Amino acid sequence: MSDADDDRLVSGENENSEEASIEKSLRPATLDQYIGQDRIKHELSVYIQATKQREESLDHVLLYGPPGLGKTTLAMVIANEMAVHIRTTSGPAIEKPGDLVALLNELQPGDILFIDEIHRLPKIVEEMLYSAMEDFFVDIVVGQGPTAHPIHFPLPPFTLIGATTRAGLLSAPLRDRFGIVAHMNYYTVEDLTEIVKRSADIFNTKITDQGSHEIASRSRGTPRIANRLLKRVRDFMEVSDKTAIDEQIVTKSLQFLRVDEEGLDEIDNKILKTMIDFYHGGPVGLGTIAANIGEEADTIAEMYEPYLMQIGYLNRTPRGRVVTEKGYAHLGIAQNKTN
Ligand SMILES: Nc1ncnc2c1ncn2[C@@H]1O[C@H](COP(=O)(O)OP(=O)(O)OP(=O)(O)O)[C@@H](O)[C@H]1O
Ligand SMILES: [Mg+2]
Repeated sequence: MSDADDDRLVSGENENSEEASIEKSLRPATLDQYIGQDRIKHELSVYIQATKQREESLDHVLLYGPPGLGKTTLAMVIANEMAVHIRTTSGPAIEKPGDLVALLNELQPGDILFIDEIHRLPKIVEEMLYSAMEDFFVDIVVGQGPTAHPIHFPLPPFTLIGATTRAGLLSAPLRDRFGIVAHMNYYTVEDLTEIVKRSADIFNTKITDQGSHEIASRSRGTPRIANRLLKRVRDFMEVSDKTAIDEQIVTKSLQFLRVDEEGLDEIDNKILKTMIDFYHGGPVGLGTIAANIGEEADTIAEMYEPYLMQIGYLNRTPRGRVVTEKGYAHLGIAQNKTN
C-alpha cells in the first residue's frame, strides 16, 4: 500500500496508535450502549442470557464484516455481558501450535479467547483449534525422533470469538465450528448519527442534530470513520467563533478535507471520472484504472471499490468495471446510452 493510504480520512482501517487509544475511550461497554446491528444484538442477548442461566460457556462466535464496523468492540461487549475475562490476539501473532497452547492454558472456565484476523492463522495452528473448539482438548507432541510422544491436554470450556474482514478466506472446517455467526452490516445514517452524538458527548463537544446527521451521512456506513470525521470537524469548530458543531461547520471543514456529501474522497471520485472520461464508463480492466490513477490494483480493489459498489456507483462485470447510472449522476455527468 502506498503512503497516501496511511492517512486516508475515509478509510475504514485503523490508522495509528493515537487513533487506537481514542477508540478505546469511545468503545461502548454493554449491548445497550452498542448502537445499531439490532438483529445481531438481539440474537446475542438471547444466547448470553440462556448460557448464563445454564452456567455454561457461550458458543463460539464468528464476527465478520468490513474494517471499523465494531467487531473488536462487540467481542469486548460480549465478555463484559458474560462477566468473563477476554484474552485478545490475532491470527498472524500465533505462529506455532505452542503459542496457541500457551494462550489456551491461561484461560479460566468460561473465558473468551478473541482472535482477530482469524483468516490469517497458520494452517497447523488452525487444525489444532478444531479439537480445542469442539471437545476442549488439544493433542501435542513432545520430544523428538524415537522419544516423541503425544500428550492429551484437556482444556477448560472456553469461548472462541473470531473476527475477520474476509469471511471467504476462512476454511469450511473452521467456519463450521462456530455456533454463532454474525455478519456485520454497514450502519444506517440514523445509527451513525446516534454514534456521533454519543462520541461528541464523551468528547464534551456540543453538536447540533443537523451537524451529527451531516457527519453520519459522510461516514460510509462505518463508525470508525464517523468518529474520525467528528474529531477533525471538532478541530475546525474549536478554531472558529462557534461553540457547537453545526451543519455549516461540517460542510465547510469536510469540503476543505475533500470528503464529499457521500463520503467519497478525491481518489474515489477520480476513479469514477477517469472511467467516464477515458473509457465511456467501462467496461474497463482494474489494471488499466490503476495505471491511470497511479495506485496499485490491489489497493483499488480492497480500499476503494467495495464502498463504490456498496453504494451502487460501480459494478464488477466479467469484462471489467462499469460506472452505473447512479455513479454518473453523482458526478453530474450525463450518461451516453449508446456506449
Ligand atoms: N455499535 C457501535 N456503537 C458505538 N460505537 C461503535 C460501534 N461500533 C464501533 N464503534 C466505534 O468504532 C470504533 C471502531 O470499532 P472496532 O475497533 O470495534 O472495529 P473493528 O470492526 O474491530 O475494526 P477492524 O476490522 O479494523 O478490526 C470503536 O472505537 C468504537 O468507538
Ligand atoms: Mg478490530
